[in-house]
Amino acid sequence: MATNWNAHSWRAFEGRHLPVYPDADKLGQVEKTLTSFPPLVFAGEARDLKADLAQVAAGKGFLLQGGDCAESFAEFHPNNIRDTFRVLLQMAVVLTFASKQPVIKVGRMAGQFAKPRSSPVEKIGDVELPSYLGDNINGIDFTPESRNPDPERMLRAYSQAAATLNLLRAFSTGGYANLRQVHQWTLDHIGKSPWAAKFSEMADRIGESLDFMEACGVDPQTVPQLKGTSFYTSHEALLLPYEEAMTRQDSLTGQWYDTSAHMLWIGDRTRFEGSAHVEYLRGVGNPIGMKCGPSLTPDALLKMLDTLNPGREAGRITLISRFGHDKVEAGLPTLVRAVQKEGHSVVWSCDPMHGNVIKADNGYKTRPFDRILAEVKGFFAVHRAEGTHAGGIHIEMTGQDVTECTGGAIAITQEGLADRYHTHCDPRLNAAQSIELAFLLAEALNLERAEKKAEAA
Ligand code: PEP
Ligand code: CO
Repeated sequence: MATNWNAHSWRAFEGRHLPVYPDADKLGQVEKTLTSFPPLVFAGEARDLKADLAQVAAGKGFLLQGGDCAESFAEFHPNNIRDTFRVLLQMAVVLTFASKQPVIKVGRMAGQFAKPRSSPVEKIGDVELPSYLGDNINGIDFTPESRNPDPERMLRAYSQAAATLNLLRAFSTGGYANLRQVHQWTLDHIGKSPWAAKFSEMADRIGESLDFMEACGVDPQTVPQLKGTSFYTSHEALLLPYEEAMTRQDSLTGQWYDTSAHMLWIGDRTRFEGSAHVEYLRGVGNPIGMKCGPSLTPDALLKMLDTLNPGREAGRITLISRFGHDKVEAGLPTLVRAVQKEGHSVVWSCDPMHGNVIKADNGYKTRPFDRILAEVKGFFAVHRAEGTHAGGIHIEMTGQDVTECTGGAIAITQEGLADRYHTHCDPRLNAAQSIELAFLLAEALNLERAEKKAEAA
């Protein structure tokens, strides 16, 4: 267990991107209430995910992590949860079928509310207000009242996370995720995409395989795994008062866990030496992600690994690179080499979203789909060259038919962005773009697998 650590030791460190609450008493009350609430996840589940990720780190499996940039109170609806979940299931099936490896599914869901912002203030015309920081902190409306940080929003976020997680658990194990339903996961609105037809062909082949297995006596009665799936949750552990209040000691092991999600990650802006966020996360037993952007040096990365994983536990650390399509091939190799040289076992995952944001001519913040694909290709090329496993993908996506990222097979133009631009923060891949990305990933994973086979022969 971590030394000199407790759930509030982060308070003595430098906390960037944390709100200043005007009403400290109200904050204290909310923290007290949250501390008395039931945990959202169990320590044993976080350990299961860690064991799955240890397999991925060893080259056996792939991590699929995705969901909203920022969940919102306004978009809280069962259909939105279901649609994002089903796109993740579809992506996982494409990846599993191609790579013949287990795919570990982790949602950016059920708790992904707080956002680090590039500027603490937003200016519209002559009016300057505090930036929107996520629905668990303040409101998106551009008024002084709404932009005031309100601790009670944490209680609403907790309740939304609990209800979302409850539905995700029901979908994962209650029959919806049964592989027999594979055709039903396709959303009507992606029918126009050529990738929907490709998915349908693949689903036919899966159906045939299941028929064959059933004839051999392998069916959901004899192998209950066919009926459901494992699905985990994650978010950026940014709002430390909330995470602290959700910290519990596991009665089985005595270890502390952040019970607000199975996996937590540290953002690119809070992963510096002396950071309150690093201090908090070093002491909880959950699997931890860390974003790795262009400003991270190999030495700083190795120091972080020693702080966050001194016991060198496999599955503990997922390094999520987010360089940008034009920087990944120059920047990532030195990090990969340093980690290899020191013998750390980590999952390497690719976030092709956060290094590829541009402003469209009409002012919309967007991400061109071809740049997202280019970063993924660069990520795979680096790992191929270094002999390491390209172990995962981390994306901002939704099951809704939004128009937030340009490009893709159903090409979204810059002018088209205005049609259905709904995100509360960064632009997300829509369902069709997500499936298209899954097919590209499948191809890259197949190549990696074929090369490994050839090497072994
Ligand atoms: C995010 O994942 O939403 C995010 C803010 O990413 P990063 O920390 O990599 O900028
Ligand atoms: Co984002």
